[in-house]
Amino acid sequence: MKKTRILTGLVLAVSAFLLTACGSSTKEDTSVKDIQKKGTITVAMNPEFAPFEFKTLVNGKDTIVGSDVELAKAIGKELGVKVKFSSMSFNNVLASLQSGKADIAISGISATKERQKVYDFSTSYYESKNVVIVKKDKLADYTKTTSLKDKSVATQKGTIQENIAKDQLKGAKVVSLVQNGEMINELKNGQVDAVVFEKPIAQAYVDKNSDLAISEIDLKSGDSDAYAVAMPKGSKALKAKIDKVITKLKKDGTLDKQVQEAYDLSVSSAD
Ligand code: ARG
Repeated sequence: MKKTRILTGLVLAVSAFLLTACGSSTKEDTSVKDIQKKGTITVAMNPEFAPFEFKTLVNGKDTIVGSDVELAKAIGKELGVKVKFSSMSFNNVLASLQSGKADIAISGISATKERQKVYDFSTSYYESKNVVIVKKDKLADYTKTTSLKDKSVATQKGTIQENIAKDQLKGAKVVSLVQNGEMINELKNGQVDAVVFEKPIAQAYVDKNSDLAISEIDLKSGDSDAYAVAMPKGSKALKAKIDKVITKLKKDGTLDKQVQEAYDLSVSSAD
């Protein structure tokens, strides 16, 4: 009698263990359902990155605009939910997915191998190469990756440009700043000698600042530097939805058109 009881207890314990073990391995992917239940998708971004995301006055109101904003709206439409933008510094954008402050992050984020270990990424939606901005009157001095030896180069904190500058601009002193506007100001007043940005962002700044120019210094890009939407790990269902949206916007040319329109808007608008 006693023996069977022990045995039954054991069987129960083992099956309970098996159930939980199996349960967690086949854990249901609720990435889409969770957002739909809330009725709102919260998108993390650093809106200091024209033409992808930046602030401008729309009908007298400070508003976040740009092609990433349009992409977020299309994703919201596909999921049938409202879109809320959560603005923060770039070095907090990805972490906000882990803390649950945001559901997805769209911020011109390069889907690097390192980041892919921690986050899920959509299919890529934009490829851009890196360039170096300098003062226009210094263009002739800075032509090669070695020209900035012992000079100060600014990059945005938490971006891939930090490593690109460190690895490729031999002997340069790389400083990381949180705000892109601050980097541009430091370049204009001579506190730093160069700034590394991806081409469209550099072009937007240069077009608004006639004392700055894009140098001919040639920087190499990594093969996973293209922009993608970031999600928490385990967002397979959500990724499928977002990939569908991106594929469509890319195929029919909408995405390129939105980047161009946002670019025109950023150049014509005051900061
Ligand atoms: N593509 C670069 C990266 O992922 C820079 C992104 C910066 N984005 C921004 N909105 N400030 O590191």
